Amino acid sequence: MGAQNKRFREIRNISSLEESRRLMQEAIDSEKDIEERRKHGQFSTPFVLAQEITKYGLELLSDKKISFLEHCIGSGVFYSALLNSINSFCCIQTATGIEIDPAYFDCTANLWNDSGIELIKGDFTRIIPKQKYNLVITNPPYVRHHYLTQDEKLYLLEHEKKETGIALSGLAGLYCHFILLAHKWLAPGAVCGWLIPSEFMDVNYGNAIKNYLLQNVHLLRIHRYNPENSLFSDALVSSCVV
Ligand SMILES: C[S@@+](CC[C@H](N)C(=O)[O-])C[C@H]1O[C@@H](n2cnc3c(N)ncnc32)[C@H](O)[C@@H]1O
Repeated sequence: MGAQNKRFREIRNISSLEESRRLMQEAIDSEKDIEERRKHGQFSTPFVLAQEITKYGLELLSDKKISFLEHCIGSGVFYSALLNSINSFCCIQTATGIEIDPAYFDCTANLWNDSGIELIKGDFTRIIPKQKYNLVITNPPYVRHHYLTQDEKLYLLEHEKKETGIALSGLAGLYCHFILLAHKWLAPGAVCGWLIPSEFMDVNYGNAIKNYLLQNVHLLRIHRYNPENSLFSDALVSSCVV
């Protein structure tokens, strides 16, 4: 057993870490202006939802040696759910989290640094992967295209086209770019879980994402949540898809 694996196994106080994470998330959110959070897509996933999705991802994963990526980690709710859900049949070999916002990043690094996860402060869309991952689960930033500059859009469109052959429309929100750009981070047989707004299923710019899900990967399941039962206390949710 490598040193990395040993460290993941030594985390015994995981429920109190989850409680600290929740409080930290609430504290940072309350200091931020809601408009600013909207602009950067900063609405955290409730833990129960993260756990439901993560457990399902673990069931689907045939390789029980886990390399986990949460590429817009926030306070690390999916990582926390993973640590809470892991059983003796699986082991985490590596875990990586990426976060652009220093406020979330610094607190997340404080909380999780000793757990064995590698944390990278930066823009996921610009980072070149050093390795591939077999479990990728996240809630990507739901940022409308109006907030992306023309230069950002051109960069994103060019890179994802190169990677997947798929051309997104300039009207697509940042979460669509996150899905396509994550492709090059996936190991063969990787399981991916995306908690995203369901609007891509109903609008023209969503066709490219539908094509990606049908042609570039093996689509296992779409779960559409009822907006009336939204677990998000602070985000306006039309409905989400995983
Ligand atoms: C919807 S939140 C989700 C956070 C966490 N994964 C969760 O589910 O609670 C999206 C996160 O992505 C971060 N983010 C936005 N743009 C990013 C980028 N280009 N690279 C990395 N992180 C980014 C935001 O700061 C925010 O923490």
